[in-house]
Amino acid sequence: MAELLKIEDLTICPASAPSRKLVSNVSFSIEPGKTTCVVGESGSGKSLTALSVMGLLSKQLVRTNGRVLFQGQDLADLSTEEMRKIRGRQIGMIFQEPMTSLNPVLTIGFQIGEPLTVHLGLKGDALKAKVNVLLEQVGIPAHRANSYPDELSGGQRQRVMIAMSIACEPLMLIADEPTTALDVTVQAQILSLLDNLKTSMNMGMLLITHDFGVVADVADDVVVMFRGEVVEAGSVAQVLNKPKHPYTKALLACVPDAEGKKPLKPIDYAWLKNEQVPA
Ligand SMILES: Nc1ncnc2c1ncn2[C@@H]1O[C@H](COP(=O)(O)OP(=O)(O)OP(=O)(O)O)[C@@H](O)[C@H]1O
Ligand SMILES: [Mg+2]
Repeated sequence: MAELLKIEDLTICPASAPSRKLVSNVSFSIEPGKTTCVVGESGSGKSLTALSVMGLLSKQLVRTNGRVLFQGQDLADLSTEEMRKIRGRQIGMIFQEPMTSLNPVLTIGFQIGEPLTVHLGLKGDALKAKVNVLLEQVGIPAHRANSYPDELSGGQRQRVMIAMSIACEPLMLIADEPTTALDVTVQAQILSLLDNLKTSMNMGMLLITHDFGVVADVADDVVVMFRGEVVEAGSVAQVLNKPKHPYTKALLACVPDAEGKKPLKPIDYAWLKNEQVPA
């Protein structure tokens, strides 16, 4: 199937140190209706990769190599205005820190409605009706539209973020650790919600996670990052059942079993001694 998003040789460095690669020659792609999970330990470059796709890298960072093609079009060729139109309309994003992404002084109904007004020109009763549908879709009663973020639980706020990100029915959703701060039950509900939306809207999904349980549940493809590089990529069955790279094997060896019988283990870096990995 045709790729929705194709990342080719993406390389990101600090502007002040253009030879220090924080993300190094990363390539992978996402198809419509499929979920690609990006896994890897803290600091491996997962969020920078996602932010770069959205054109939201901080000014202290630069892309020194590579391309990001969305439906075959190089996103770097777009003007700021054109990119703004794609963001939220065709590519939705759920950020790693939802608590800081919602405006505390605006109702959640207003915030969910904003992309609908900006991108689709919805107003008045039509806007209200669509906001209510979205709230119900993410499992929040429509009468809560007039609530403020601090009147909601963490899980509900995360659902509001999801409602905002899918409001305009984007072709692709980028979700950066969307459930990390939530308890296990809410986490499972949110993931199954995202998985259902992906299927019903034929959305392509880029899901960043630390959690191999999540990967096993929702991924079609898996990309494993280590120190800014992709060390392994493939179908979920391939990566989880027949990992090739020692880092993937080491990561998988740390996953506790379902009954929690296996004690938590730190990652074994013994393999690194035999590998050529950039410092
Ligand atoms: N503005 C910045 N300037 C310099 N270095 C940065 C900047 N932002 C991020 N980095 C560095 O880039 C590397 C990759 O960061 P990134 O946020 O992508 O990691 P991550 O894989 O998302 O980690 P986590 O799982 O903790 O969210 C880290 O070493 C980080 O310290
Ligand atoms: Mg991150």
